[in-house]
Amino acid sequence: MTFDLFDAQDDVEPATEPIADGAVVLRAFARAVPGGLLADVTAVIAAAPLRHLVTPGGLRMSVAMTNCGALGWLSDRRGYRYDAVDPDRGVPWPPMPDSFMRLAREAAAAAGFAGFTPDACLINRYVPGTKLSLHQDRDERDHGAPIVSVSLGLPAVFLFGGLKRTDRAQRLSLRHGDVVVWGGPSRLRFHGVLALADGEHPLLGRQRINLTFRRAG
Ligand code: SIN
Ligand code: FE2
Repeated sequence: MTFDLFDAQDDVEPATEPIADGAVVLRAFARAVPGGLLADVTAVIAAAPLRHLVTPGGLRMSVAMTNCGALGWLSDRRGYRYDAVDPDRGVPWPPMPDSFMRLAREAAAAAGFAGFTPDACLINRYVPGTKLSLHQDRDERDHGAPIVSVSLGLPAVFLFGGLKRTDRAQRLSLRHGDVVVWGGPSRLRFHGVLALADGEHPLLGRQRINLTFRRAG
């Protein structure tokens, strides 16, 4: 077994930080999951390249995205939705690697959501200056399953708000290997990411990669 992710950050101790009812930050959780995760991220991106989607209003998103799993999240002029086919390539999204599935399941269970089986993984790539505005994840068919969000690479400030857009948002610093899980009464909380600060991550360079696991279909 290898632990390829975490040579760079041996100072971070795993810890569980509740942030709301049904929501938790699992510090350094991805560190405990055996190897292959970064190689699998690279392979998925090689198969289904990152791209800048367009919002229904016609704006190009600054976060670059791709997907793996049975369903992939999409945005275009027609709206937001999940689709089994990558529209850029005309074929299904790459399958979800075992390393992804295992990490998502174990993180959900550690947060109190045993039995989570994601069918979609959205991969977001942020470069310095990129941000993601406050939004809810609500394009999934049923909101009984949680969202599992894995941070890799450069640190970011994650905004975790309430059920109304105007509710005051907590600011959480997320580092390489941290996992946030939100479900139950927190499933529809607004969240976002502040503009990424510049930096150089020892394993991932000048970027942050986020994996968001959902039960979409
Ligand atoms: C998302 O809400 O889809 C991504 C959140 C993040 O990048 O931490
Ligand atoms: Fe989201």
